[in-house]
Amino acid sequence: MRLLVTGAAGFIGSTYVRLARGEHEVVVLDKLTYAGRRDNLPEGVSLVVGAIEDPHTVREVMGGCDAVVNFAAESHVDRSIADQEAFARTHVIGTSVLLDAARELGVPRYLQVSTDEVYGSIENGSFTERSPLNPSSPYSATKAAGDLLVSAHHHTYGIEALICRGSNNYGPRQYPEKLIPLMVLNALHGDGLPVYGDGRQVRNWLYVEDFCRAIHTVLLEGRPGEAYNAGGPDETENIEVVRRIIDLTGTDSSLLEHVTDRPGHDRRYSLSSEKLRSELGWEPRVRFAEGLERTVAWYRENEWWWGPIRSGAYRDYYERQYGRSLSG
Ligand code: NAD
Ligand code: TYD
Repeated sequence: MRLLVTGAAGFIGSTYVRLARGEHEVVVLDKLTYAGRRDNLPEGVSLVVGAIEDPHTVREVMGGCDAVVNFAAESHVDRSIADQEAFARTHVIGTSVLLDAARELGVPRYLQVSTDEVYGSIENGSFTERSPLNPSSPYSATKAAGDLLVSAHHHTYGIEALICRGSNNYGPRQYPEKLIPLMVLNALHGDGLPVYGDGRQVRNWLYVEDFCRAIHTVLLEGRPGEAYNAGGPDETENIEVVRRIIDLTGTDSSLLEHVTDRPGHDRRYSLSSEKLRSELGWEPRVRFAEGLERTVAWYRENEWWWGPIRSGAYRDYYERQYGRSLSG
């Protein structure tokens, strides 16, 4: 197959391309926002720089493709709270443009990469694909709007569109605005470790390679019009994640500090992956303890990757978001 993979210069999409390119021809469309980097892509993968909300570019790159996998997104909740316009543009307009083009060009298969956050927060138990969408942040609300457009296109025009919703991912090449790489890099530099509120919020951590396998399985074997949840094997409180990073990096635990909570902070995410397991045989393979060890090792060994981020515009973002500077 010839696959159009959008947003693949980012964290999860670049991992997916590494998995898919052995069997398939891959073309990437990415706008290269602050989170997208050409050097995240393996050599030999062709990149078209452009936005998914630009119908002209989209039609040009999508022509002749057998499937579309849409990763393109603004992916950080805190940024969506500060300014949501780009989230609406990419998740709503962008998804709509991709779906229209897929229909007009007769692309046989479309997969939307989505998130557990569209279901909102859950105190006990786990969300299934039948749970109502109840998003709480501008990030998750616009992602939910994208998902609804995908379902509507399947329902109205019969295009073979599917959705795969993952829980919190972690692993190599994740931009350090997210909890795990932020804490790892701050720990390695002796910077404070800013835990929002009481730190007892729970996330269902999924190693990025496991999510990419789920996405590929759903693309190849999922039933059109269906959504499939891919949840991680372990649920962990944020404070426990930070404690483990302190241990793995040999950092002084006094660096841990409780800071002002995120507005509207979802308390707990939890996904049931029973449908994906029973219908398509997917299960996560990497437990959190092992994945976290691998991730910390990757950041230790790849300063070439994060050095330019920590010395660039990320410093300004960090100051705006946390009201303090990173060390040099
Ligand atoms: P990321 O921020 O690392 O990468 C996003 C990529 O999309 C970047 O390369 C960026 O340049 C590109 N992009 C942004 N806007 C674009 C646009 N308008 N047109 C073209 N390209 C654009 O994000 P990620 O963590 O890799 O997330 C990828 C997808 O997975 C997103 O759809 C996200 O909602 C979903 N997801 C993420 C997680 C997670 O924990 N990170 C969990 C579940 C689902
Ligand atoms: P994040 O990585 O932003 O993912 P999401 O908001 O999509 O779940 O955050 C994961 C959890 O960590 C979330 O409960 C917020 C919390 N968090 C902190 O406590 N401190 C931080 O500096 C960040 C970035 C997140």
